[in-house]
Amino acid sequence: MSTPRFYVTTPIYYVNATPHLGTFYSTVVADALARYHRARGHETFFLTGLDEHGQKIERIARERGLEPQAYCDGIAAQFEETWKRFGISNDDFVRTTSPRHEKAVAEMWKRLADAGDIYEAEYDGMYCVGCEEAKTEDDVVTENGEKLCKIHLRPVERVKEKNYFFRLSKYAQRLVDWYGQTPSPIQPESRRNEVLSFVKSGLRDLSISRKASSVTWGLPVPGDPSHTVYVWIDALTNYLTVLGGPDAVAAGGGKADFWKASHHLIAKDILRFHAVYWPAMLWSAGLEPPREIFCHGYLTVKGQKISKSMPATRVDPSAIAAELAPDLNSDPLRYFVLREYTFGGDGDFTYEALFQRYESDLGNDLGNLLNRTIAMAHKFVGATLPARTPTTVGPSTIFAEQAADALQNCQLAWDALAPSTALQATWGIVREANAHIERTKPWALAKDPNDAGKRGELLDMLAICCETLRWAALTIAPAMPTAAREILRQLGRDADVGTWPSVWGWPGGTLTEPVPVFPRVDPEKQSALISKWVPAEAGAPAAAPAATPTAAQPKAAHTEAALPSEIAMDDFAKIELRTAKVLTAERVPKADKLLKLTLDVGTEQRTVVSGIAGAYAPEALVGKTVIYLANLKPAKIRGVVSQGMILAAGDAEVLSLSSVDRDVPPGSRVR
Ligand code: ME8
Ligand code: MG
Repeated sequence: MSTPRFYVTTPIYYVNATPHLGTFYSTVVADALARYHRARGHETFFLTGLDEHGQKIERIARERGLEPQAYCDGIAAQFEETWKRFGISNDDFVRTTSPRHEKAVAEMWKRLADAGDIYEAEYDGMYCVGCEEAKTEDDVVTENGEKLCKIHLRPVERVKEKNYFFRLSKYAQRLVDWYGQTPSPIQPESRRNEVLSFVKSGLRDLSISRKASSVTWGLPVPGDPSHTVYVWIDALTNYLTVLGGPDAVAAGGGKADFWKASHHLIAKDILRFHAVYWPAMLWSAGLEPPREIFCHGYLTVKGQKISKSMPATRVDPSAIAAELAPDLNSDPLRYFVLREYTFGGDGDFTYEALFQRYESDLGNDLGNLLNRTIAMAHKFVGATLPARTPTTVGPSTIFAEQAADALQNCQLAWDALAPSTALQATWGIVREANAHIERTKPWALAKDPNDAGKRGELLDMLAICCETLRWAALTIAPAMPTAAREILRQLGRDADVGTWPSVWGWPGGTLTEPVPVFPRVDPEKQSALISKWVPAEAGAPAAAPAATPTAAQPKAAHTEAALPSEIAMDDFAKIELRTAKVLTAERVPKADKLLKLTLDVGTEQRTVVSGIAGAYAPEALVGKTVIYLANLKPAKIRGVVSQGMILAAGDAEVLSLSSVDRDVPPGSRVR
């Protein structure tokens, strides 16, 4: 039998924001699945990437005074860096502005055209740039005579032009038949029913191009550069780009064969594109539809979808990862999102629930088992615990059976894309082992070191605990790779990293000194962190424009402490704001976000390090007049002494630099 294959993808995220908890969620689930399949020895390919074309992106780039490509490059670097820091193990990273992708889209277009599925016609309708989607009367609400997209509550645009269309309607019956297969290619069932009724209500052909005179930031239509390819036709093709493109996938062989094992993870916002348009495009191109589309719900804050356009819902995984057990990268947060939510449904996020699980599941159950096992071994029998296989009677056999059942359940759950259930299976044996310690009372057994029977029982118990911990580490590794590695290290089993358990029985090992893997966070620290992480209320004074970070809190660009509701004029008088002209600007090596600026402040020149590289290219700044905080205590950032701080607007990230709207000399006071 050949090795099973597994191809898993996340959506390619729009570059209109950096990672947030919503995008973190899909990416972590995909990563955990990929790690699980690799550990099982399956040939695995895990893809994530970025969706960079379209009007939405072009507009944001221009608002920030950047060329779209330069803007995209800045955000792309931040995504790649963040995913790496979180231990995301993607095998490829696709960007829709790459030449290989442009080639793939051209092949796709040609295949649809060769199938006779593309024709020209007049389009007259509404379009929402936020959704990058055509809208019908059902999708809009009318307010003060203006039509607003129901999702974005922003005006839709009227589009009337000659476009290329794709014969989507031709594929209606084929879609219905496909949805009817068992197991359903669309999971969970409720989502299948949703697209089924959408298709049954009648499919219209799809406009798949825009006049290049109205949409320039996109790929040219092959053979007709006066048109730009619709961003979703462009984006969906990414899943083939990394396998060599549509032609290579059609030919088969090598990497292309991953296509047969494709699993797309998405949320319900983009179900229709994936479950209706994408299979139809693939059939038209002479290719197979994806093997599975798994659609999960939304993570919410106070019931509201977490999204970049809603600052009050912002949850910053980077801030959490940096401050909650920082040695574990993002493992506690990874565990939380995988364990807390049933994959598929919606789930509300609270920091309290995060700490609750951190403390009980990670600290009290798993962390405690590791700590006490190692401490007891050192105390009662020494650090080296010889191999111990199941005896024919007694607790070892019971544990062997329980572990085998737990492993079976864990595998079934990962195979069914149910991470929460998979983790629960592991926690079952962890809790059993903790209970076993209580029952065995090792401290009593150890009182009689010369009693061979008691010593045997003690060694048995320690072996059961160590083996439970080893199995636990291996089966949680997809969810918490860093913690798993650390547990195996403390068990003296580094060699097991990346394997999957099979035969129950402690293989022996020399335990290290016990080190808490999930250090306790006391209640005061928890509340301090929570108030730091919770964004200032949306609609609070001036929406709390984020100052660019200084050396004092270089990470603080992501998070804002709650602001006092009132301050006295005296407080404000302490702040010395002045204008300055940017003379030079350069990147700070090895720091994606930082620029080093020389400012003309009227009386002298000053150096300021500013975290705005994600939003501004250095060249775009030279000559600009900005507002800066002049009496900020100087601080060293990456070896450069920064004398002040430039002001900028934006909640989670810099959207725009502060400026003045008339010419004023450098050094003018701002108050
Ligand atoms: O739609 N809860 O990109 P996007 C759960 N470029 N998941 C969430 C979420 C939330 N609150 N918010 C975002 C696009 N997501 C297109 C995709 S694919 C060919 C093109 C996740 O940046 C979830 O996976 O808007 C959702 O489907 C995706 O981010 C949307 O990302
Ligand atoms: Mg979106």
